[in-house]
Amino acid sequence: MKTALTILATGGAVAVLLACTAYEMPENREGRAIYDAHCAMCHGADGRGQGDVAAGMMPAPADLTTLARGNGGAFPVNRVLSQVDGYLKGEGGDDMPEFGELLEGDLVPVETDDGTLTPTPRPLAALLAYLETVQR
Ligand code: HEC
Repeated sequence: MKTALTILATGGAVAVLLACTAYEMPENREGRAIYDAHCAMCHGADGRGQGDVAAGMMPAPADLTTLARGNGGAFPVNRVLSQVDGYLKGEGGDDMPEFGELLEGDLVPVETDDGTLTPTPRPLAALLAYLETVQR
């Protein structure tokens, strides 16, 4: 009986440990791949708004490398989230590609502007983390 309990306890600890590693923030290149696949055609490979299909677009795709600068130096997590959320809800206009894939996968905590940790689908969290690194 004692052995069984020990095994149960160990199993529990391992499960908790696994849950924690699943919570590890996604790596940068994960976000980069998502960006390349879903955003670069408009916002450009370097994020500055000159993607392949950007020419002539009205309004022009935003320069995503100056989001923090335009927000007093703080990366505007909520603004980016709501923009992508808008795309997901089809508010982005007819040309908007499918972003549904961004909502698949585990939830990881993302710190939003007020410091609250908000469970966010991993691909979206990865994308946010990547965009934060390209701020200049
Ligand atoms: C079809 C072209 C297109 C694609 C693809 C696209 N965007 Fe945009 N995006 C735009 C345009 C045009 C604007 C500027 C007009 C507006 O704000 O709606 C914009 C604006 C934004 C803004 C607002 C910037 C600000 O100043 O608040 C963010 C953030 C953004 N896009 C992020 C993304 C991300 C992240 C992706 C990929 C998941 C993406 N966009 C994919 C065209 C695109």
